[in-house]
Amino acid sequence: MSVVCIEFKPGLEGIPATQSSISYVDGQQGILEYRGINVGQLAKHSSFLETAYLLIWGHLPSEEELKIFEYDVRHHRRVKFRIRDMMKCFPETGHPMDALQASAAALGLFYSRRALDNPEYIRSAVVRLLAKIPTMVAAFKLIRSGNDPVMPRDDLDYSANFLYMLTEQVPEPLAARIFDVCLTLHAEHTINASTFSAMVTASTLTDPYAVVASAVGTLAGPLHGGANEDVISMLEDIGSVENVRPYLDGLLERKAKIMGFGHRVYKVKDPRALILQELAEELFDKFGYDKNYEIALELEKAVEEKLAHKGIYPNVDFYSGLVYRKLGIPMDLFTPIFAISRVAGWLAHWKEQLAANRIFRPTQIYTGDHNVSYTPIEER
Ligand code: CMC
Repeated sequence: MSVVCIEFKPGLEGIPATQSSISYVDGQQGILEYRGINVGQLAKHSSFLETAYLLIWGHLPSEEELKIFEYDVRHHRRVKFRIRDMMKCFPETGHPMDALQASAAALGLFYSRRALDNPEYIRSAVVRLLAKIPTMVAAFKLIRSGNDPVMPRDDLDYSANFLYMLTEQVPEPLAARIFDVCLTLHAEHTINASTFSAMVTASTLTDPYAVVASAVGTLAGPLHGGANEDVISMLEDIGSVENVRPYLDGLLERKAKIMGFGHRVYKVKDPRALILQELAEELFDKFGYDKNYEIALELEKAVEEKLAHKGIYPNVDFYSGLVYRKLGIPMDLFTPIFAISRVAGWLAHWKEQLAANRIFRPTQIYTGDHNVSYTPIEER
């Protein structure tokens, strides 16, 4: 009998899956850097598309490089009518993440050439995915209520155009800027579940549309990107500041997780949650208060009192939902919006994976039986 001498780490906690120079997290100090630049600086000074360029190509673009990149993305925003028609056949009650996963995979049918060693192919896949994913998210939102999708507008920037396609109204500059910062904050986060999923798929040398579709499916779960939707449901369930503590006690008694809290890596408040909270306050100042914010503040205080010793603090999902709600975005689009942003990180890892590829093939610790005899069906 073989002797097992490898330690099993559930969730692969602490096991390096790759070497990467894309992003860095210090979970004790609450630091997140993209290519060495603090995410707070990028939120303040950069745009989502410039940040995507930084993540994918490893350096901040020159003025000329950024102009060309933005131009290319702007001119690939439309999706083929066959994709829109395919989306019209989706059930209107289906979750937009499922619609997005199917549509992202469908792009592979239209751009089927697979030239992974050709930089031009890589660049055009990056441009297409960054350009078309927002259009597909907005299209499904309108199609499911029986309307035709709104065509993208070339005179609007990336984020303003997305909000326009959702609402058919050109957004206020503050709303578009805050949405763009949200995209920057969610763009990349080392080897989380969906990025790992993207890397595993990429390592088989399949096409980038399959890579992104597999990552979208992984992001959809409530322990990952899906938590921001659950946060708002939870705040609404709580209903009042007075009910925060009894509600929290109930969750803790049932050993249920508090949505929007806790993180595998951060043991302090997530730096993105700090920035998102400021953005939420900016929006409330301009467009009016949300009573759920008071409940959220009280919940943060109560959770800190009870769970700070375990390193449980608000994560990125705790305040993002409040921001999206104030921007008029339906709750079930919160996670697709996470995907619009995280596609930048997935593509950066796809490119990095291709540069030094070896197919992922981990091992297992077998816990089953051996030499079991087949039992005929009539004897079972
Ligand atoms: N509420 C209450 N207790 C918690 C929470 C929470 N949200 N998160 C962790 N804990 C406790 C957990 O019960 C355990 O306690 P004990 O050691 O006494 O058994 C300890 O903290 C470690 O928890 P874990 O589940 O082993 O931690 P993990 O690293 O496997 O999970 C997590 C990380 C994010 C999945 C988890 O914190 C969680 O389920 N949070 C709620 C869902 C959520 O907000 N997800 C968004 C994550 S951030 C964005 C993203 O990655 O997409």
